[in-house]
Amino acid sequence: MALTTNYGIHILRDGDTYESNPDDMYAFRVDYTGDAIELSAGDSAWTLTENMATVARGPAIVRSPRAVTVIRGYAPRTQSVSLAGGTNLPYINGCSSEQLIAPVRPGDPTMQLLYIPPHSSEQAHHIHATARVVHVLEGLGKSIVGMDGGEVIELSPGMTLVLDRMVPHHFETAEQPLLVAPIHVWSSTPLEQGHPMFYGTIKT
Ligand SMILES: [Fe+2]
Repeated sequence: MALTTNYGIHILRDGDTYESNPDDMYAFRVDYTGDAIELSAGDSAWTLTENMATVARGPAIVRSPRAVTVIRGYAPRTQSVSLAGGTNLPYINGCSSEQLIAPVRPGDPTMQLLYIPPHSSEQAHHIHATARVVHVLEGLGKSIVGMDGGEVIELSPGMTLVLDRMVPHHFETAEQPLLVAPIHVWSSTPLEQGHPMFYGTIKT
């Protein structure tokens, strides 16, 4: 079982499993047991090996020594992509990223690669509309979670974090860089903020 913190962060290490929040619109589970997974038609399994990111389209049998994220109701083509090649997209506060598995259509799930250099904050404290499954690949850092300091989660390679939707957070580094691979269980588009609360609120 994953360790769940006060602020909606779930920490998985080797041997753990996690089922998505039943209130969530998008169902997924994370399996870090290393056992064979019978993937159903219509679902997909997202995982990492030593140097590859892989998505398997069901039906299939999937086994991985790393955490496997099974996304219900989304089945892109089976594909593998190398982690080698670094990050080529500029991001925020010195960070950079790469789309390992891009969304087929805007808003579809995606796996990103995120490099955070030493002495950086990934970005300002923020929330996401959908859950994130974050694989810690290399380096050291910490995740700051909740409001007003909240809690601090030390990050090291081999950990997998699940961040519930709307959990305030950001990542920070000290002397070492940090390399993570976050899965956006469903991704975002600019239209996400096109709703009455945003349009009806004018800052004075
Ligand atoms: Fe984030």
